[in-house]
Amino acid sequence: MRSQHLLSTLLPLLSPTYAADCTPAYFRTILPSNATVRFATSVASNTVFQVPRDNIAYSTSPLLLHSACAVEINITSSSTSAFSFGLFLPDPSEWNERFLAVGNGGFAGGVNYLDMAAGLGYGFAVMSTDTGHNSTSGDITWATNQEQKKLDWGYRAMHESVVAAKAITAAFYGQKPSRSYYSGCSTGGRQGIKEVQLHPESFDGVLAGAPAWWTSHLQTWTLEAGLINLPLDSPGHIPSTLFPVIAKEVRRQCDGQDGLVDSIISDPEGCNFFSEALLCGSGDDGECLTAPQIDTLYKLHHPYVETNNTFVFPGLELGSEEQWNVLLGGSAPNALGTQYVQNFLLNDPTWNYWDFNGSIVELADRIQPGNATAYDYDLSPFYAKGGKLIQYHGEADGLIPTGSSSYFYKQVLKTLKPKGIELDSWYRFFLVPGMQHCSGTPIDVGAPWYFAGGNQAGAVGSSPGAVYSVPGFSDARHDALLALMAWVEHGQAPDEIVATVWKNPRALGDVLRQRPLCPYPKQAKWSGKGSADSAESWSCVGVGEMVNKRHHH
Ligand SMILES: *[C@@H]1O[C@H](CO)[C@@H](O)[C@H](O)[C@H]1NC(C)=O
Ligand SMILES: *[C@@H]1O[C@H](CO)[C@@H](O)[C@H](O)[C@H]1NC(C)=O
Ligand SMILES: *[C@@H]1O[C@H](CO)[C@@H](O)[C@H](O)[C@H]1NC(C)=O
Ligand SMILES: *[C@@H]1O[C@H](CO)[C@@H](O)[C@H](O)[C@H]1NC(C)=O
Ligand SMILES: *[C@@H]1O[C@H](CO)[C@@H](O)[C@H](O)[C@H]1NC(C)=O
Ligand SMILES: *[C@@H]1O[C@H](CO)[C@@H](O)[C@H](O)[C@H]1NC(C)=O
Repeated sequence: MRSQHLLSTLLPLLSPTYAADCTPAYFRTILPSNATVRFATSVASNTVFQVPRDNIAYSTSPLLLHSACAVEINITSSSTSAFSFGLFLPDPSEWNERFLAVGNGGFAGGVNYLDMAAGLGYGFAVMSTDTGHNSTSGDITWATNQEQKKLDWGYRAMHESVVAAKAITAAFYGQKPSRSYYSGCSTGGRQGIKEVQLHPESFDGVLAGAPAWWTSHLQTWTLEAGLINLPLDSPGHIPSTLFPVIAKEVRRQCDGQDGLVDSIISDPEGCNFFSEALLCGSGDDGECLTAPQIDTLYKLHHPYVETNNTFVFPGLELGSEEQWNVLLGGSAPNALGTQYVQNFLLNDPTWNYWDFNGSIVELADRIQPGNATAYDYDLSPFYAKGGKLIQYHGEADGLIPTGSSSYFYKQVLKTLKPKGIELDSWYRFFLVPGMQHCSGTPIDVGAPWYFAGGNQAGAVGSSPGAVYSVPGFSDARHDALLALMAWVEHGQAPDEIVATVWKNPRALGDVLRQRPLCPYPKQAKWSGKGSADSAESWSCVGVGEMVNKRHHH
């Protein structure tokens, strides 16, 4: 890039505390000709950054804890596409000398300023891309016949934004960032893993939450899951009023099977669930399921398997039912499934979702529009360059089945272990019992879910942007991003990450519970002594070491 050339000529003249002017004119001087400046403006610390009104995917205006130069750059990626990215550059005295990229959600086309604000809190120069189009997360209508825009969403906007934003950061401070990190959840998790696969040099550390990595199967499963519970007048349809009833029964059966009755299902995979316990008897009052509804429930909880035993996607986890409304509560399948097929895959908005069958999945696998799926399990180039990857997934996720994360982890393991590469020294995966999609927990579960993962800071505290890291516990034991940094920079591997839940997450007053999350396949085990709400009473134990996990009195 021209900026890099410019940089090498200017570098000797600049002191490390140098920062350029925060003006469009300055950024124009360092940008290549395919880029334009949408704005560049200084924002004082503890003031609200007004998100541009046209940024409809992420319209929340966050408080900025540090003063920063806020820039938005637009880059042309082809004759029919362009993407933008936002960049917060903290004052030189407050810059932690590191770069952070944050991710998006769903098919959102917009700059994620809220997650950027959390990154700025740590002192990062922090970037988010709009992924090359303009839409809210559940809207894919922009994609019809837009092959270039699909590529931007798939991976290109992220990669090119990372390259350009790093160069701008280096030029702005007269010094390259010492380390580069990534944090994102859902589509954000996919974007991080995809970048690791395509450009392992981009990041030193990647924090990937609930990754929507298997685009061709996740979106088609989303459609299939919707169809399983439709039409509304079919005998097997489960109305959303019954989801909490199912959740309660799952909890009744599965909670204690992990050794402790505490409303949190720690090991849903290990639960032997008898769904027929929900079957209506004669004269039951509606808090029960008919036989056809039990069959529907079975299909939702189990993997989607196509013709000839082809595994397509895992089912929804036991304990995720309280979040089923999003995908299963409507009169039609969720648009993330239908529009993926209509607009992203077939370029035919008139396609009828009742025509869905396994051949659509095969087609998606063959075409891989936008090359969005993060399917390359050989992460050895990232390992070889010393990269560190932390992946996590909530066990009560009702949008992206938890099993898709375990599946990915196991595929990488199966690919690399035979090559002599163990994962433990650079790639760890943490299941989060009781956490829903990326953040939150049902009120009657109260599972510790907060560890400063992607999207999480915006879900706590009284005003957007006012929170970064883990308030009261801002250290590498409780904050997954700090844990990643400690691993990258000090070789300190995360043997556990302590998750927190407050009595009132918006007020951040009293802590309700803290508990360690464990590197898969280890699980947290209560010592039997001390409060089960204190992390100190728990330890991570390996497979086969859980024999005494049930407490006999
Ligand atoms: C995005 O689309 C909305 C209309 O849906 C429009 O109001 C807004 O200006 C657009 N934003 C950009 C950045 O073009
Ligand atoms: C980016 O620039 C292109 C022209 O190259 C323009 O069509 C597009 O609307 C711009 N996008 C934004 C978000 O400003
Ligand atoms: C923009 O131009 C620079 C410099 O020529 C080039 O390196 C970069 O790849 C271009 N970006 C895109 C998205 O085409
Ligand atoms: C299933 O297997 C049969 C027999 O091998 C084969 O003829 C058929 O094409 C397969 N169907 C699909 C959808 O893969
Ligand atoms: C799947 O649907 C397509 C298009 O509607 C149809 O041509 C095909 O025969 C169907 N395949 C199966 C296996 O039902
Ligand atoms: C698509 O992405 C994968 C990595 O996820 C990469 O291995 C592959 O080469 C890419 N394919 C194309 C056609 O760019």
